[in-house]
Amino acid sequence: MSQPIILAIESSCDDTSAAMIRGSQILSHTVASQEIHQKYGGVVPEWASRKHQVNIVPVVSMAIQQANIPQNQIDAIAFTRGPGLLGSLLVGVNFAKSFAMAHQIPLIEVNHMQAHILAHFISDANPTPPQFPFLCLTVSGGHTQIVKVKDYFEMEIIAETRDDAVGEAFDKIGKLLGLQYPAGPEIDRLAKIGNTNAFEFPLPKLQELAFSYSGIKTSVLYFLQKMEKENPKFIQENLYDLAASVQKTLVESLMVVLEKAVLQTSIQEVAIAGGVSANSALRQALIQKKEWNTYLPKFEYTTDNAAMIAMVGSLKFERKDFAPMSIDAQARLPI
Ligand code: KG4
Ligand code: ZN
Repeated sequence: MSQPIILAIESSCDDTSAAMIRGSQILSHTVASQEIHQKYGGVVPEWASRKHQVNIVPVVSMAIQQANIPQNQIDAIAFTRGPGLLGSLLVGVNFAKSFAMAHQIPLIEVNHMQAHILAHFISDANPTPPQFPFLCLTVSGGHTQIVKVKDYFEMEIIAETRDDAVGEAFDKIGKLLGLQYPAGPEIDRLAKIGNTNAFEFPLPKLQELAFSYSGIKTSVLYFLQKMEKENPKFIQENLYDLAASVQKTLVESLMVVLEKAVLQTSIQEVAIAGGVSANSALRQALIQKKEWNTYLPKFEYTTDNAAMIAMVGSLKFERKDFAPMSIDAQARLPI
């Protein structure tokens, strides 16, 4: 049988994205990012769903056009069921159901967190895909977890955050530094020029396999308040060094737990995924781990994207794992 062609849509947060895939080969991939949230310093759920509503048809049409495949050759439609913002997810779920009904094709539900990990199996993602079992550090604006991936759909979370996600920490500390949302990419850019050892912030000291960001965030806040009392231009005059020092602390906090997880599991096959996996210091830290086999996603597969949803769609199509028309969106969905 020839490889299935699948259309996929992702609308879990603030990016509307569509992709077409044949087997594991991406044929097209489009993303409409919502700039409106920058004004508010974070994602406004009501705005996000309204923008998805406007963007979904043009984004899907563009993906189909760019793949140059007639609509009647699409074998199934995959969509993000959760986790995510409910109003945003509903736009994608309902679009997918209508498309499946109109074209009489199967519907495939995708777990967003599994998709971030399984993006490593897209044919152009890695020279060779990770071998099972592997560990995946999934780091985004909503999640910070280490997942033991035993098989495509057999995953176990072995470490999680106790409070904020690391992407959230980048964004909140960035806000303290006067940067726009999302601040992660900007901190990464500024840090390239700064001195990573200029300022020191404490790392969390947790006994168990877990992450925590509230302590780092508070210590940066108190430090800035103290320094600004002495010099109101402190942030402005030290922005590069602040970005570099904060980034170093956040990346170190991830690496400490990841190293522990590798020791505990004896698994040296290690991937990273999610928006923060675009971070250059984190990528560098992974590259330096010569004794591990590391897998870094291509930049287009790090932040939210429908290519990863399409990859899961393809794997589920092979397994004839289809969703009923009564399927609902789920803001919380276990991996
Ligand atoms: O996976 P994602 O696109 O959306 C969620 O599911 O949350 O991740 C977005 C997060 C934001 O917090 C953003 O600041 C962060 O990823 N991010 C980065 C970088 N690029 C995106 N953080 C640090 N360095 C980057 N280069
Ligand atoms: Zn995500």
